[in-house]
Amino acid sequence: MTTREFKTHSAEETIALGRSLAPELKGLHLVLLQGDLGTGKTTLVKGIADGLKAAESHNVTSPTYTLIHEYRGAETNVYHIDLYRVEKRRELDTLGVEELLQEENSLLLIEWGEKFAQMVSAADGTIAITRVNDQERKIKFTKK
Ligand SMILES: Nc1ncnc2c1ncn2[C@@H]1O[C@H](COP(=O)(O)OP(=O)(O)OP(=O)(O)O)[C@@H](O)[C@H]1O
Ligand SMILES: [Mg+2]
Repeated sequence: MTTREFKTHSAEETIALGRSLAPELKGLHLVLLQGDLGTGKTTLVKGIADGLKAAESHNVTSPTYTLIHEYRGAETNVYHIDLYRVEKRRELDTLGVEELLQEENSLLLIEWGEKFAQMVSAADGTIAITRVNDQERKIKFTKK
């Protein structure tokens, strides 16, 4: 297990950090994005999806209601998933997350995935964001 910590001071810096972490996320399949509401999980995905050439950052939006956003790249398909509104194991099963995990070259970035034990055990990485103040965030990346 390796852990690294970063600090950012704006949304733009968090996007840039996501871009720079992208190459290291390439081999992973499921990364949990942890942090309170509005800390910057979706903002980080903008940079990651851009870094993996799956989407341009301005096209990445929160999958709040749609639950899954899919960004297809030549080498990696990024699935950005928000489980905030998913309460039951049965609802999770109908989303087909397990199937996406089986896909080759897929990277699942999951917000609020820690609500479900099977997501925690399937994760091969975690990025935890904490709000220091209005603009500052502490971002901790752990790779299993
Ligand atoms: N250093 C920073 N990094 C990321 N976002 C920041 C930073 N400073 C301020 N912000 C602001 O914080 C908000 C983060 O929103 P974002 O949608 O990315 O959060 P989230 O963690 O995905 O929330 P939710 O759980 O509601 O989906 C944005 O409005 C962004 O501009
Ligand atoms: Mg979000």
